[in-house]
Amino acid sequence: MGGTDGGGVDGGGVDGGVGLTALMVAAARAIETHRPDALACDGYAEHFVRAARASADWPVRQADVPGGDANPLWGRLGRYFGLRTRVFDDFLLRSARAGAQQVVLLGAGLDARAFRLDWPPGCVVYEIDQEDVLAFKHKVLAAQGALSAVPCRSIAADLREDWADALTEAGFDPTAPSVWLAEGLLLYLPSAAERRLVDTVDRLAAGGSTLAFEVKLWRESPEVRGNPVYTCAKEQIGVDLLALFDGEPRPDSIGDLAARGWSTASHPPFDFTRLHGRGPRPERGDALASNRWVFAAKPVGAAAGDGP
Ligand SMILES: C[S@@+](CC[C@H](N)C(=O)[O-])C[C@H]1O[C@@H](n2cnc3c(N)ncnc32)[C@H](O)[C@@H]1O
Repeated sequence: MGGTDGGGVDGGGVDGGVGLTALMVAAARAIETHRPDALACDGYAEHFVRAARASADWPVRQADVPGGDANPLWGRLGRYFGLRTRVFDDFLLRSARAGAQQVVLLGAGLDARAFRLDWPPGCVVYEIDQEDVLAFKHKVLAAQGALSAVPCRSIAADLREDWADALTEAGFDPTAPSVWLAEGLLLYLPSAAERRLVDTVDRLAAGGSTLAFEVKLWRESPEVRGNPVYTCAKEQIGVDLLALFDGEPRPDSIGDLAARGWSTASHPPFDFTRLHGRGPRPERGDALASNRWVFAAKPVGAAAGDGP
């Protein structure tokens, strides 16, 4: 497998645009993994970072981070990604153990959960992302000899378009419970695409299914948009998050799901910092203040697409 042995490969979709954000999260997971108090461990993360030309010289250990924990990008935002990984790991495993054996990762990026989590037997993981991102990911995983204990089916699709048929053609069964995750995705989608995505999940999710996603509830003020998290991401690694975030007013996906009969619970990430005893804490002009992690469940007995 040429190119993943330290020379760096053209990572296609991960080397620019929104695909580069997948490498940013992978680097944060690599750093988290090497911390003595890691909240999540992903041994594949650093291999993704090292394999792509765009990120080959990014830090993968806290010791390599300029300024250490005081670095706004790899310190504060990095810890946010570490906490987020752990919280959604726990959510997915809880749902799968409760019987949602179809796991759908929307905007999966370089998420290696199919390979690193202890899934109950019978689970199938579906991951949807851009074709180039998925091709890069599986090239690196193959070079590492990674084997998933459960089937992992990759689906190349533009999540702004219609992807339901591609998922069912890959074997997804809308009559059986499923667990869905949109982690670090909806922020980048136009609001009409987010509404369509929620509608598609509701159509394909049988009763007993669950969904978790991350949103920003409001457009941030100029003060918050000047937060060092954003300026450092742009200056240190060329990821201009503010330019990548969709600029339209956000749809009320929490209200939409509630109107369709789902139960919902929305949490600021700081709730989980308290729960785990580590992670980001609120600060002035906070770029994380508008972030919510939302957990939704469709009642058992409701049919796929029961909503209005
Ligand atoms: C910030 S990364 C998050 C990746 C992963 N969920 C994680 O947390 O590690 C965002 C991902 O969404 C994907 N993405 C964004 N817009 C997309 C679209 N319209 N269609 C398919 N994938 C998209 C990107 O390619 C990227 O992998």
